[in-house]
Amino acid sequence: MSSLIVCFSHTGHTKIISEHITERLGIDRVMIMPRIPYPLSDAELDRRVLAEVRGGLLPALTDPDVDITGYGYVFLGYPIWCGEPAPPILTFINRNVWFGKTVIPFMTCGGTYGRGLSEIKLLMKNRGASVTNELILKVPDNMTNDDEACNLAVEKTDRWLDEIIRRFGTNITKRKP
Ligand SMILES: Cc1cc2nc3c(=O)[nH]c(=O)nc-3n(C[C@H](O)[C@H](O)[C@H](O)COP(=O)(O)O)c2cc1C
Repeated sequence: MSSLIVCFSHTGHTKIISEHITERLGIDRVMIMPRIPYPLSDAELDRRVLAEVRGGLLPALTDPDVDITGYGYVFLGYPIWCGEPAPPILTFINRNVWFGKTVIPFMTCGGTYGRGLSEIKLLMKNRGASVTNELILKVPDNMTNDDEACNLAVEKTDRWLDEIIRRFGTNITKRKP
């Protein structure tokens, strides 16, 4: 069984973590992006995100054809937006078949993750997948590569990865042939 990392990140925090996981495990990573990019202005971003979250809207993605068939383990990375997993990751979940897979979520947030984990657990349960070993990282708004907050987040990620490697062994570092 091989492993894949799938990640959405708007301001880059979750992306930094996904890069670190990629380096440590040596597995493939796919960054997903909304077809209509999120606005850069905070006010406009808030407006769109609130509309998506409240309306249960799933934004179209630029690359809807990422194929997760053949992967046994999927690391799923996303930020928490308005107490929910950011909508693009929900689009991705909705367009793929998850039956029998093991999903390992990692998420970043400012401090309140709300339904950011329970929602993923519910969606995966309904799709016949299991969710395990989640990582929830609380990070400041302006975290950048190599600043103190980032180093702390990466250290926590490393301890989490140590546990995952102990638990799943070499399965977790296998790339799809
Ligand atoms: C529109 C929006 C809504 C957010 N809502 C929450 C929230 O409900 N709880 C929280 O702890 N952080 C919230 N945040 C902060 C992000 O989760 C946090 O900055 C995250 O690390 C961003 O990840 P990214 O850089 O990978 O996009 C929100 C950020 C944005 C832009």
